[in-house]
Amino acid sequence: MTTTIGQRAGLDTIPAYRQGAAPKPVDGLAPFKLSSNENPYPPLPSVMEAVAGAVSGIHRYPSLAADALAAAIADEWGITAGNIAFGAGSVEVASQIIHAVTNPGDQVMFAWRSFEAYPILATVAGAEPQPIPLTPEGGHDLQAMAAAVTPRTRVIFLCNPNNPTGAVLTAAAVERFLDAVPSDVLVVIDEAYLHFNDHPETAVGVDLFRRHPNVVVLHTFSKAYGLAGLRLGYAIGTPELIAGLGKVAIPFAVTALAQEAGLASLRAGKELQDRIDVLISERQRVYSGLLAAGLPVRPSGANFLWLDTGIHTAEVAALFEANAIAVRVFPTEGIRVSVGTADANDRVLEIARRAGRLLLRQH
Ligand SMILES: Cc1ncc(COP(=O)(O)O)c(C=O)c1O
Repeated sequence: MTTTIGQRAGLDTIPAYRQGAAPKPVDGLAPFKLSSNENPYPPLPSVMEAVAGAVSGIHRYPSLAADALAAAIADEWGITAGNIAFGAGSVEVASQIIHAVTNPGDQVMFAWRSFEAYPILATVAGAEPQPIPLTPEGGHDLQAMAAAVTPRTRVIFLCNPNNPTGAVLTAAAVERFLDAVPSDVLVVIDEAYLHFNDHPETAVGVDLFRRHPNVVVLHTFSKAYGLAGLRLGYAIGTPELIAGLGKVAIPFAVTALAQEAGLASLRAGKELQDRIDVLISERQRVYSGLLAAGLPVRPSGANFLWLDTGIHTAEVAALFEANAIAVRVFPTEGIRVSVGTADANDRVLEIARRAGRLLLRQH
């Protein structure tokens, strides 16, 4: 006998989150996955040791408040543990924020295109997504966003640098935006790619939080710290907001292994920073190579680059696929390529030269 379980109204209209594709195998070529903005390096030995050491305790629940990690992060940023809420990745914290702040029918604003989870999380929480188109350069149109705030707008996501375009928001522009937005609207500054952002004028979430209580900052251990598979992210906000996030969070979603890995990563500061520095310089090398190949690449403050290939997206994407490189393809819009190890990046540049010739022939 089969039974059909009815699902809540509207669920069939919500898109499922799409994971970055795996590379298609090609004979004679090492595959590279550059489709999820992951750290291409394996975990540091000290982090693996910390995780292995915590395995013997996994018959116990983890610390609900992740107190040791909270103390270390508080110390790093000059805040208190009461300013920090954790989740299984910063995407889970983003979901907590929407659940804690919006009532059904309230609006959640974000630039579009940006991180694909924002509209999904908003809709799942019963809120209405308010996407505001990016500028032609791929940045947030902060004027348009401020002008689009309605009495129902409760939460605004600013993604700095923006995924997938890599555009950086300057401190001055975000200050102006915060002055223009009502102070009872929560502004989330999602800094998933913070460590790769070397823009001299960038907005810095924690600085803005110190001056504006309606700012909450999202950080993750998935990108620069290379812990995407362990799921660990956090918010920095006012104690009142943080207490609210704790109420809507799934209890114990942040495992003891993740907490230990996070602590060990904070202790490995210099080693991790060296890797980050290499990735930043590789990003610059790939950016210059893509430009030289004639591809429409945007400056980026993150560990990925955006190719504005528009109607040529499918042809360029096919070249990556045929050469065992998985990238994130946005049909008819563009392609996001994560910065990988030097050999992966060399392959990207080879493909770029071919793609550049292909595009040239079509003009
Ligand atoms: C802008 C942005 N925010 C948040 C996340 C979520 O990261 P995680 O849930 O792994 O912390 C991502 C992941 O790609 C991202 O690009």
